[in-house]
Amino acid sequence: MALIGPPALNTNPFVALLNDFRDERAASVPFPPGETRFSMARTRRFAKEPLPMLIEAYERFGPVFTLRVFHGNVVFMLGPAANHYILVSHASNFLWRDGHFRELIGLMGDGLLTIDGDFHRRSRRIMLPAFHHEHLVASVEAMLEEIGQALEELKPEAQIDLYYWTRRLALRVAMRALFGVDPDSERARSIDAAGLFEQALSYYSSDYVLRILRGPFTPWGRMLRAGRKLDRLIYSQISHRRRTGERGQDILSLLLDAHDEDGNTLTDVQVRDEVMTLLFAGHDTTTSTVSFMFYELARQPEIAARLQSEQDTQLAHRQPTPSQLISGELPELEMVLEETLRKYPPAWVGPRRSIEPFEFEGYRVPERAFVNYSSWASHHLPDVFPEPEAFRPERFTPEARAAMPKGAYVPFGAGSRTCIGMRFGQLEVRAIATLILSRFTLSLPADFRLEIRQMPTISPRRGLPMLIGARASAPPAEVSAAA
Ligand code: HEM
Repeated sequence: MALIGPPALNTNPFVALLNDFRDERAASVPFPPGETRFSMARTRRFAKEPLPMLIEAYERFGPVFTLRVFHGNVVFMLGPAANHYILVSHASNFLWRDGHFRELIGLMGDGLLTIDGDFHRRSRRIMLPAFHHEHLVASVEAMLEEIGQALEELKPEAQIDLYYWTRRLALRVAMRALFGVDPDSERARSIDAAGLFEQALSYYSSDYVLRILRGPFTPWGRMLRAGRKLDRLIYSQISHRRRTGERGQDILSLLLDAHDEDGNTLTDVQVRDEVMTLLFAGHDTTTSTVSFMFYELARQPEIAARLQSEQDTQLAHRQPTPSQLISGELPELEMVLEETLRKYPPAWVGPRRSIEPFEFEGYRVPERAFVNYSSWASHHLPDVFPEPEAFRPERFTPEARAAMPKGAYVPFGAGSRTCIGMRFGQLEVRAIATLILSRFTLSLPADFRLEIRQMPTISPRRGLPMLIGARASAPPAEVSAAA
């Protein structure tokens, strides 16, 4: 028998809006203080620059406040204690599926990210083995091969867009390492998967008013169209594997043969939804992390030089081994990675919907309220991270890390919904960063100014142009892979 998923979500935006109004009016307790009158200016500002808005509201109202965004009240809970409350101690009172990013279901269906409760628990249990150590080790070879190939495109004195370069690379890695799909196969080459994800997710960078429209030329229509094209690749792979019985170390093999403790299996649609979710989550976040990391390194070349000298001593011009990459054995790089994810956590907001009314630190919040935690805002609270705009890897020395309050640092979420791909993502960022730094020095064009967009993860708004320089003491191009 197939695992029973949640009921299909009604994608009619007017029905959803009407239900939201009803829920808000029926609230059994008042919303926390904040700005609760309708304002299109506030809604547009929130879409464009949510971080300063959230920090301002935190200073005015405290760690729990309400902002009316478009049609409805949204409660934000910021800071270590709030994160711990939503993600760990009271996680069962919050649903993802009915939260602020519910439209993602149009693209991803009922994958791990968008489901809750027992179906989430069972699905997660099926998928966890694919992220165990031996699977990570098995993925390193493909990862290094893909990175090596992509590095051939980087030529000293040229300019590249590091964001788009990494996005293509990360998608190829996800296809190969997670799904055993050859990105150079005829079927995969016939679609521009990175471009299709960009097209689909642009829904989240479009104006709020446009998002409620439906039809072929609307942001919603574009998202569905891109999803259908990606589907062709995913379903062809599913049917090929079912037909031939071909299996490998990848997640697709695991999903096709998966059954839970009661012997339930996954249907093709359920497998497709998980694959789509992992393809999205598995490339988008790592791409942003690599981009923001190199943006900061270009602004502080002395930190990049420290990373390069760490490599020279610890790797001696060899490729890092799988275990060095998986356990993060280059401490300077590790601190830079953690500080990058503090300042720019790609999954910057955790959208939820409360089930029952609750009280947190004297604030009451109604049932069926949109409740969001935000790693981005929580990582920018000056009382937790002094001078939050400064990029300082030393915030993450082992001692400083151990002294951080519970819930202060949540780039991968926490609790039962902690990012399932965390170790895969960290491994991939370390591998890409290490190999770039071993050969090149990247700098920013003089006139570049970083602007951040949310789509729905954060990334540089117009990509990341970077000038490529050869490293003075770069190793020979042919490096031997140490076992
Ligand atoms: C630097 C890289 C990454 C970051 C910063 C990141 C961040 C996050 C965060 C914050 C969440 C929790 C969201 C919430 O609480 O609402 C999450 C969930 C998730 N991530 Fe990641 N992620 C990364 C890489 C990956 C990779 C590589 C994959 C897949 C291979 C992945 C797959 C997922 C999935 C499936 C979930 C949903 C988990 C669940 O609800 O059980 N992520 N990620």
